[in-house]
Amino acid sequence: MCLKSLKITNWIVFYFGLVGLFWQVECVDNKYDNYTLIKLYPNGIQQIEALKYLEVPEHEVEILKKSRSFNDSTDILVSPNDIPFVKQFIKDESLIYELKRNYGRMFESVERTPKRRILRGFSIYEYHSFSAIQEYIDNLAKRQSDLVKLQNLGTSYQGRRMKLVKISSDHSAQNPIIFVDAGIHAREWVAPAMALYLIHRLVNDPDARKELDGVDWYILPVVNPDGYEYTRTSRANRLWRKTRSKNSQFECFGVDGNRNYGFKWAVSGVSTNPCDKETYAGPKPFSEVETQMVRNIMMENSKRMKLYVSLHSYGQYLVYPWGYTGDFLPKEWKRLDTMARIVSDAVQKAGGQPFKVLSAGKWYAAAGGSDDFAFGAVGVPYSYTMELTNGFEFIYPERLLRVVLPQYYEGFRAFATQIKKEFCSKYIGHRCKNNSPEESETNS
Ligand SMILES: *[C@@H]1O[C@H](CO)[C@@H](O)[C@H](O)[C@H]1NC(C)=O
Ligand SMILES: *[C@@H]1O[C@H](CO)[C@@H](O)[C@H](O)[C@H]1NC(C)=O
Ligand SMILES: [Zn+2]
Repeated sequence: MCLKSLKITNWIVFYFGLVGLFWQVECVDNKYDNYTLIKLYPNGIQQIEALKYLEVPEHEVEILKKSRSFNDSTDILVSPNDIPFVKQFIKDESLIYELKRNYGRMFESVERTPKRRILRGFSIYEYHSFSAIQEYIDNLAKRQSDLVKLQNLGTSYQGRRMKLVKISSDHSAQNPIIFVDAGIHAREWVAPAMALYLIHRLVNDPDARKELDGVDWYILPVVNPDGYEYTRTSRANRLWRKTRSKNSQFECFGVDGNRNYGFKWAVSGVSTNPCDKETYAGPKPFSEVETQMVRNIMMENSKRMKLYVSLHSYGQYLVYPWGYTGDFLPKEWKRLDTMARIVSDAVQKAGGQPFKVLSAGKWYAAAGGSDDFAFGAVGVPYSYTMELTNGFEFIYPERLLRVVLPQYYEGFRAFATQIKKEFCSKYIGHRCKNNSPEESETNS
């Protein structure tokens, strides 16, 4: 069944001298039904190079994920028409591959059933609409006004009101800040779900007082709400990635928010074609109101911000700068790497898969990412992109959220512990004392 996203094509028909105009309503909701997901495993530099050839726009090959190491797949979605071309390509390059046919038919399993939801109330282990997420946050801020403060950031391109969630046990203490954002890429639903879960745990879990003591959490759970809502309108739009801003010169929408940040903008790994569905960097740095908001949060809090984590999916990676180049690393790379491995160990200890830890640009360079901007332009000492989950591409099943979200939470606890150890002059037990001198004097 197809109720939404009707593609309306008008045809002018000349018929015995009469001109008839009629609409052909074509249902495109199942656009991806007969597409094939192909996972290509490069095992050498030559094959890595060859994979770039798939990016030519003439082919309707959608690249879902690029390989970041040998034996790590580049995942592509191929229309029935392009299967012969891709088959030949695989043969010519002797690539190892796996495939899943009828890929779009999997999308159904995560479709929303809003009525059932309303009856059951809000569950943290489900994918929600942007308005439901906002409502949850508003209620939380009302109920726990001592702990949770909301900062209005303005509106998205299409007018959705965006709010930064600030969680602190003492908002006046000038604690080090951990800033987490999610959902710059519309289709990566598990990322906003994780951000919301993090908010939920920090506010509702009595044990989380430890994570809150001496450090402030700033969380923006959906950076790109227009894109996010667009992916919810139909299965045909489920894999949208970019924002939804309109390009005036071209009949195309959207910018890749994670290529739009103003640090080494567009020097590598971007498309300059506004109609590119994946990596269009935008007409200029920070052309998007949504990336401007994240920039402003970073700039306004630059002195106190010690950790930035941008949540994405998928691949189970925890990567650090530089993203714009693989030729060299920042001189502080060792501590970035060490912290990431501690976090990965914590997730593994909680039963999760360990992260693959490396620099973002090591395998393929891509400029204009938020992690590079935080680290290189703002001076945030620890900056990461976290690619959540592996195994279901962007269609991570809702039923598994209650398994993985708590595992990732342990990673965030490890982050907080490390940040406090490093940025509190007095770190006693779990308590960070350097930010309220009066208190530490009387207590010590
Ligand atoms: C998928 O393939 C089936 C069988 O060939 C065909 O009937 C159907 O129309 C196709 N669906 C789409 C969306 O192209
Ligand atoms: C890739 O995987 C295969 C089989 O699992 C293994 O034999 C090979 O050593 C791996 N190559 C690298 C570079 O890790
Ligand atoms: Zn992403």
